[in-house]
Amino acid sequence: MAIDQKRPAVGERTMTLKAVPFFTQLSDKELDVVRSVAAEKNYSKNAVVLTEGEVGDSLYMIMSGKVKVFIGDEEGREIILKILGPGAFFGEMSMIDKQPRSASVTTIEASNFLVLAHAAFERCVEQQPRIANVVMQCLAQRVREADRKIGTLALMDVYGRVASTLLELAVYTDGKLMVGEKLSQQDLANMVGASREMVNRILKDLSDRGFISIESKAITIINRELPPSL
Ligand code: CMP
Repeated sequence: MAIDQKRPAVGERTMTLKAVPFFTQLSDKELDVVRSVAAEKNYSKNAVVLTEGEVGDSLYMIMSGKVKVFIGDEEGREIILKILGPGAFFGEMSMIDKQPRSASVTTIEASNFLVLAHAAFERCVEQQPRIANVVMQCLAQRVREADRKIGTLALMDVYGRVASTLLELAVYTDGKLMVGEKLSQQDLANMVGASREMVNRILKDLSDRGFISIESKAITIINRELPPSL
């Protein structure tokens, strides 16, 4: 199970509007139009930004910070669909189809967003129709990722799911392949649909076998050929 080294890292803590995928193809003048119609919002760590099932029509671009996208049930169990950082966006689904939010989003770091309501987005598309293409590309990419996740959840055992999630989150930092997020074992369990105890056992096994090292929650991948199962 190897990792694609070319995959972009979640990256820098802050970034300019130019780096937000929706808008990378726009000129500075066009970006000024976006800035003039978008509102800036700041959230502290662990703040609820969107709630699954609620009505809303705004798209959020992450300028700094990080969020987790998750779905949950009444008993408080949750499955984390994705962790998003600077340059990513969320909320586009309800903005486009005006249906209730498909998932909840909370900050896992203090975050700064640019928020674009549906009407403002339409104005941007009117002035710059290519934006609609970029949106479609981003949505296609999300469906691909979701397909991969469904495949992982359905076809791999928990060991494989943990290994594949570690690789998916890994980025090169100072020449080391490290899991970019400081995830708790409960977070990891919520990403792979397993108990915290099971994840704890698997991480210990991977560490004992020399595939990873763990130091104060930071996980380093030592051998990229992580075993798919015990
Ligand atoms: P929306 O449905 O408006 O609100 C919740 C948001 O979570 C959704 O838009 C997407 O932006 C985001 N989201 C939902 N599912 C996923 C997923 N599988 N991967 C990444 N982001 C998602």
